[in-house]
Amino acid sequence: MNLEDLSLLNTFFIVMWIMGPAYIANSVAVLTGGYFPIDQGKTLSDGNRILGDGKTWSGLVGGTLGGIVFGLILDAGDSRMALEHFTGEEYEESLWGNNPVLVFTLLSFGALFGDMSASFYKRRQNLKRGEKFALLDMYDFIFMSLLLCLIIQFTWLSTWIIDGWKPLFSIIFLTPILHRVVNIIGYKIGVKNEPW
Ligand code: CTP
Ligand code: MG
Repeated sequence: MNLEDLSLLNTFFIVMWIMGPAYIANSVAVLTGGYFPIDQGKTLSDGNRILGDGKTWSGLVGGTLGGIVFGLILDAGDSRMALEHFTGEEYEESLWGNNPVLVFTLLSFGALFGDMSASFYKRRQNLKRGEKFALLDMYDFIFMSLLLCLIIQFTWLSTWIIDGWKPLFSIIFLTPILHRVVNIIGYKIGVKNEPW
C-alpha cells in the first residue's frame, strides 16, 4: 500500500476503511452490552468501582466480534470495489496485510480495551459511570487499537501509517468527529444514555 501520493480526501476514505473495525466496536458494545459487569461490582480502596457497570462482558465480547465481522465485510470483494470506486485507486491485496482477522481483532478489542482503561482512570478520578471526560472519551479507543497493532502487527502498521503526514492526521482529525456523530445517533435512537 502506498498512501503517500493520495489526496487528503482519499486518505480520509482509506483510513476510515482501515480503522473501521475500531470505529464500530464501541457502537456494537452499546447494543450488546449491559450484562455481566467485568469488575463484578467490586470497588477499590478509593471507594469507587474498579470499572463500573458501563463495562460488561457482553459488551466486550459483542463489540469485539462485531468489529471482526465488520472487518470481514469491509475486506470482501464487493466492498473493495466500492472503495476503489470512491478513491479511484486499485487495491490488489487486503488493506489489513496477510493476517486480516488478527488485525480486525487487534483493532476492535483494542478499541474496547482502550475504552475500559479510560473507565478505570475515570473511576479513580471520582467520575461516575457516564460522566464526560472530553479528550479521553474521544481518543482512548483509537489510541489502544493503534498501540496493540504497533506491538503485535508492527510491519503491517508501518506500511501505511507513516506514509507522509496524512494518515496520522486523518486519524487525529476524523476520530473525534466520527465518535461524536455515532454517539449522537446512538443517543437519539435511544440505545445510549448520553450523547458522548
Ligand atoms: N458497554 C458495555 N461493555 C463495554 C463497553 C460498553 O456494556 N465493554 C455498554 C454499557 O451499557 C455502557 C454503554 O455501552 O453504558 C456506553 O459505553 P460507554 O460510554 O463507554 O460507557 P459509560 O456508561 O459512559 O461508562 P464510563 O463512564 O465507564 O465510560
Ligand atoms: Mg460514556
